Amino acid sequence: MTEDAAEDHAQDRWNAVDHYIDDLLVPEDDALTSALSASEAAGLPAISVAPNQGKLLHLLARIQGARTALEIGTLGGYSTIWLARALPADGRLISIEYDPAHADVARANLARAGCEKVAEVRTGAALDLLPRLAAEPGAGPFDLVFIDADKANNARYVEWALRLTRPGSVIVVDNVVRGGRVVDASADDPATNGTREMYRLVSEEPRLDATVVQTVGTKGWDGLLVARVVS
Ligand code: SAH
Ligand code: DHB
Ligand code: MG
Repeated sequence: MTEDAAEDHAQDRWNAVDHYIDDLLVPEDDALTSALSASEAAGLPAISVAPNQGKLLHLLARIQGARTALEIGTLGGYSTIWLARALPADGRLISIEYDPAHADVARANLARAGCEKVAEVRTGAALDLLPRLAAEPGAGPFDLVFIDADKANNARYVEWALRLTRPGSVIVVDNVVRGGRVVDASADDPATNGTREMYRLVSEEPRLDATVVQTVGTKGWDGLLVARVVS
C-alpha cells in the first residue's frame, strides 16, 4: 500500500468509528443538522467541530457548571449551539466572529436552535473586540472560553482568556496537534507557529493547569487543549 492509500484507509476507519460513536451517544436534532446544512449552503468551510467534539464542549460546560461562556471563532455557530445549550436559560454566551457573512449565518442558526436569548454573536477581529469586552461592566468573568479562530493569534487569545476568567474557569483550544505538524521541525506556517507559541505560554503560566488530548476522527488527526484556571 502506498502511504497515501494507507492514510485514506485510516481516515475511513476514523470516520466509521466517529459515526458509531455519534449514532450511540451524540444524537443531533434538527437545529444542529440544519446549522451544518445552512452553513454549507452559504458556502462556509466545513471546519466546525465534529459532533462528538461539540458534545465534549457541552459536557465540559455542564461539568463546570458554567453560566457564562466566551467563544472566539463562531463560523456558522455549530459549536456555539452545543455550548449555548449547556448554559442555563439566564446564562450568557458571547461568540466573536471576524467575517460578517459567517456571523449572519450563525445568528440565523442560533435563532433556529432557540439560542438567541443566551448566545450573542459579535462581528469583528477578536483582538479588537476582546479589549472592548474586557472594559464592559459586567462582562465576565466567563466560566468557559473556547478558542477556535485564527491559530496565529492563539497565544494572544489565551492571554485574553486569562483576563476574562476566574479561578476554576475552563479554557479549551481547538486544533492544537494539526496532523502532527506541531512537532514537525520543517513546519513553519503561521498557524503551527502560533499554536507552538500558545503551548509555550501555557506551559510557563502558573495560573493554568493544562493537558492536550490528541484526536482522530472525521476531522483527521488533531487535538484539543483543556486548561483549568488555577488562580
Ligand atoms: N467554532 C466553530 C468553527 C470556527 S472556524 C465551530 O466549531 O463550529 C474559525 C472561524 O474563526 C472562522 O469563521 C473565521 O472567520 C474566524 N476568524 C478568523 N480570524 C478571526 C479573528 N481574527 N477574529 C475573530 N474570528 C476570526
Ligand atoms: C481549520 C480551522 C479549524 O478551526 C478547524 O477545526 C479545522 C480547520 C482551517 O482553518 O482549515
Ligand atoms: Mg477548530
